[in-house]
Amino acid sequence: MCGIVGYIGPREPEGVLLEGLKRLEYRGYDSAGVAIFNKGKVEIVRAVGKLTQLEKALKGKRFSGPIGIGHTRWATHGKSTLENAHPHTAGKVKIVHNGIIENYIELKDDLISKGHKFLSETDTEVIVHLIDEELKRGDNRGEAIRRAMLRLKGAYALGVIFDDDEKHLYAIRNGAPLIVGVGEHEHFIASDIPAILNYTNKVIPLRDEEIAICTQEECSIMDFKNGNVPRTPQKIEWDAEMVEKGGYPHYMLKEIHEQPRVIMETIDKYIDKDRMVPSFDDLKIPVSTLKDIERIEIVACGTSYYAGLVAEYYFEEFARIPTEVQLASEYRYRHPVANKRTLIIAVSQSGETADTLGAVRMGRELGATVLALSNVRESTIPRESSAAIYTEAGLEIGVASTKAFTTQISTLFILALHIALIKKTMTKEAVSEAIHELTALPWLVEQSLKRETLIKQLAEKFYNYRAFFYIGRQLLYPVALEGALKLKEISYISAEGYAAGEMKHGPIALVDQELPVVCLVTPGPIYDKVMSNVEEIQARDGIILGIGEAGDSRLKKISREFIPMPKAPYHLTPLVYTIPMQLLAYFIAVKKGTDIDQPKNLAKSVTVE
Ligand code: AGP
Repeated sequence: MCGIVGYIGPREPEGVLLEGLKRLEYRGYDSAGVAIFNKGKVEIVRAVGKLTQLEKALKGKRFSGPIGIGHTRWATHGKSTLENAHPHTAGKVKIVHNGIIENYIELKDDLISKGHKFLSETDTEVIVHLIDEELKRGDNRGEAIRRAMLRLKGAYALGVIFDDDEKHLYAIRNGAPLIVGVGEHEHFIASDIPAILNYTNKVIPLRDEEIAICTQEECSIMDFKNGNVPRTPQKIEWDAEMVEKGGYPHYMLKEIHEQPRVIMETIDKYIDKDRMVPSFDDLKIPVSTLKDIERIEIVACGTSYYAGLVAEYYFEEFARIPTEVQLASEYRYRHPVANKRTLIIAVSQSGETADTLGAVRMGRELGATVLALSNVRESTIPRESSAAIYTEAGLEIGVASTKAFTTQISTLFILALHIALIKKTMTKEAVSEAIHELTALPWLVEQSLKRETLIKQLAEKFYNYRAFFYIGRQLLYPVALEGALKLKEISYISAEGYAAGEMKHGPIALVDQELPVVCLVTPGPIYDKVMSNVEEIQARDGIILGIGEAGDSRLKKISREFIPMPKAPYHLTPLVYTIPMQLLAYFIAVKKGTDIDQPKNLAKSVTVE
């Protein structure tokens, strides 16, 4: 995820761009840069690291404008170096980009064969050379851009300016968010609304395959088929609370949409992106202790318990350590066996859950090493544990936990790889490959969030049903449990999560034409097994709500409704498939009219037994 901004108008462009980038820094902060006209020539200033580095580089500089583009980067292709920082340039073309170009390697080879010289490792640089190449076929810049876009595969939002054209700012959207802000004798482009809300509340959200061409006075939009698209600006009517909720009607929906960012920030904290290995520098557990661990017990409650169930697969597969996940409220009253070779991981968003705290205290008494995973620094559970690591989910206000869940799983994924390296149960190459896959997760979650409209429509069709089943296997079994919990706790509808393979051992007796069954299916080692379970339900007239990989025609065919999900590495599917679970529960609750952020009978942190 990256953030892009652009401006054309009478203001000082550097101020507008920096203000916008500050509001977009959450989308990435490996490097940042601007390209701004100054006395008829475009100057590019870039800096590695957080935005403050770019501010330092711009200190004292003044630009005549009237046009400028800016970018803040989360590295996916290429390390966070100055050469890889945006804006990128080729000939007269300057560009900033958010997204991933899937066919950049073949395009790069073709462009190199035509004499183009590349300076960076990024996929973005291919786009700027492609537009430069298309300019050779005629200097209609909008046309050159359009032709170049037709050759790209992937998803992108772009800001483009040309060295010899002080009159036009170009914005292109295809698969990544981009809006145009409409002011008086000025226009803005940005990855999201808050970046420009200080200057205008009139926006045009671009749709996929659209190109906006902005002068100071007007903005025209064409689609990739070269047709003009008439669009009228929308007025953003956000009151103070809405601004506080980022324009969302509920904190829960805001927090669902914060997940790409907070997952990125959490991952960023625990990996060394240059070496592509885990990095738990301040983990206060000696490597020798981790090396001697013979068993892992994960203790937690509710959604945090389900995060533990996902992590169980990671610890056993990656680190080859026997791992059990315990409900803290049960564990603390049993006579568990634990000793100094047991690692107890206490997962708790709030860090205050009484039952989890009780399990932590018992674990310490038994001599185990207790590692807390919390979202709140200095909360009680981390304080009473041997050591603590933290998710970077930020304040989670909605009682129904969403972003905490996905950041917990992301952190435990990295921790399992860290221990696998220590125990030498995985090679560094295999660990680096898994970490590299993980860096695309914010992007995958952003793609998953784009199913929102489809899921809202699904909720509107099924919100009146009296009960739901959720089924999944292996890594998606805990997601089925979490999906059922989300629905229960905010819509008050009875819902059960089940291991798909277990349905035939009893629960299938409940299946009839009045029972929607959310079926989580992803390609992988047990695809056929899960599909057999789904077909057993279909054979008994159950209503199949299929959540599966786009293109899975076998699941789609037997689904009453099918939600196509982005292709994701198998180990990351729990994180990607959780998003539709959260959205389905949310939109059903909206239709039920419940108090979504503060559901009845619940509290955000259960500090009593
Ligand atoms: C999840 O949506 C619920 N709010 C609840 O199950 C919660 O996960 C559980 O109470 C544990 O809270 P904790 O993570 O703060 O310990």
